[in-house]
Amino acid sequence: MARTEPRTAQNTMKCPVRPEDVDLFSPGAQEHWYEAYPILHAQSPVHRIPGEGSVPGTDGFILTRYEDIVRVVMDPDRYPPGLTTPPKPGPDGAMPQLNAMIVSILSLRPTETLWRAHKDELTDPWVGSGATRHDDMIEAAANALIDQWIDQGKVDFVGQFARLLPQIVMANVLGFPHEDIPRMEIWGAAQVAAFVHGHGHRNLLTPEQAIEQMRSLAGFADYVADWVVEKRLRPKDDMISWLTQVTYSPLNRKLTDIEINGIVYAMMIGGLETTQYAMAEQAQLFCEDPELYRTVRGDRSKLRAFVEESLRLRSPTQGLSTRVTIQDEEFQGVAVPAGSLLHMRWAAANRDPQEWECPNDLQLDRKAVTRHVTFSRGSRSCPGSGISRQEQLIAWTCLMDRIEALEYGAGNTFEHQPGIMLGLYALQLNFRKAS
Ligand code: HEM
Repeated sequence: MARTEPRTAQNTMKCPVRPEDVDLFSPGAQEHWYEAYPILHAQSPVHRIPGEGSVPGTDGFILTRYEDIVRVVMDPDRYPPGLTTPPKPGPDGAMPQLNAMIVSILSLRPTETLWRAHKDELTDPWVGSGATRHDDMIEAAANALIDQWIDQGKVDFVGQFARLLPQIVMANVLGFPHEDIPRMEIWGAAQVAAFVHGHGHRNLLTPEQAIEQMRSLAGFADYVADWVVEKRLRPKDDMISWLTQVTYSPLNRKLTDIEINGIVYAMMIGGLETTQYAMAEQAQLFCEDPELYRTVRGDRSKLRAFVEESLRLRSPTQGLSTRVTIQDEEFQGVAVPAGSLLHMRWAAANRDPQEWECPNDLQLDRKAVTRHVTFSRGSRSCPGSGISRQEQLIAWTCLMDRIEALEYGAGNTFEHQPGIMLGLYALQLNFRKAS
């Protein structure tokens, strides 16, 4: 049986033993996340974070039970979204990129019904249920990356594959030229800065960090705006061109430039790093259990279940504080007053022993294997789950076609980045090329 706990780096943070030791958010906490979850499940499934609610004088609560998280995300009227990262103005008072996303949310999807329509009509055709349209492109991109190191017998799987593939895929989907990918990487990192360097469960940046974020994002709004103008004039076969042409049926009109800019911002913030993290965890699961790699390689019909189980066991987005209570509530007998900010700990719910039989085992024959909450659930669930799944499936199909066996290489520290993502900095692999 595969070892399913992530390898972790040495660090100064002490391994939790009691609920009061649990800290999921300080730098280094990620190295003990999977030791903290059983403690929370057994002793504090609704874990209070004093003083960190949605407004001063309220608290945050970490939800770790599957049933509680599903209850919340499936009832958006009762548990409306709260902004995880309250926008802060930059030095000149402007936040053009975030403003575009907020403008686009307010004008295109201010209600639950419109949120659904937005997904159905504007993102699903490209990154959701319609993502299979990109299969050939993803396969070509994956093979081109593998070509660059397949004869070397070793690779930094993160730096030479898992990070690059989602960047190339999203550049192709949006219709950005490949020479701009290095700039996209800088902008993408700035966009997710709060989720990596932000403080506590609310991912708060200091004023200095917010200024640095704005500095790094300089140019992105203009870059996208210029492409929107260009694609309106000379549409090609890409998502931005299509967004300039489409009629959004609930409003019976075409989209404005700033609305398209906002959608592009959302695609970039969600579409780059998360899939990278998923593939890096999958490579580790295979290194931990060579028989698992042989089994899935020998019977590709098992690949889909492997991907879903890995997303459950090693969820890239471990948790998000994205819902608030608007009335007094109770979860698992714990009173949660109105105004509380709920931290949805997807990764813990995915190992909840009350929901999953043998929660820590990777089972290729698990029933209803997609019911994990890695992409959340309901109308507000991740709009990019379709393309992320296709990237993972196609990446491993290409890798398995060309690699017979793989193992850890030298020099791995297994150190994870800070923040709320399960993000490994680097992963050295040795492999035997398929004949
Ligand atoms: C393994 C990869 C991914 C994981 C684990 C993931 C996970 C999530 C989760 C948990 C949420 C929050 C949903 C909620 O609050 O109910 C979310 C939202 C979101 N995700 Fe993903 N995601 C992934 C890939 C992607 C990709 C590839 C894209 C874009 C192409 C994307 C775009 C978004 C956007 C835009 C949102 C915000 C919600 C919205 O604007 O509709 N994600 N994602």
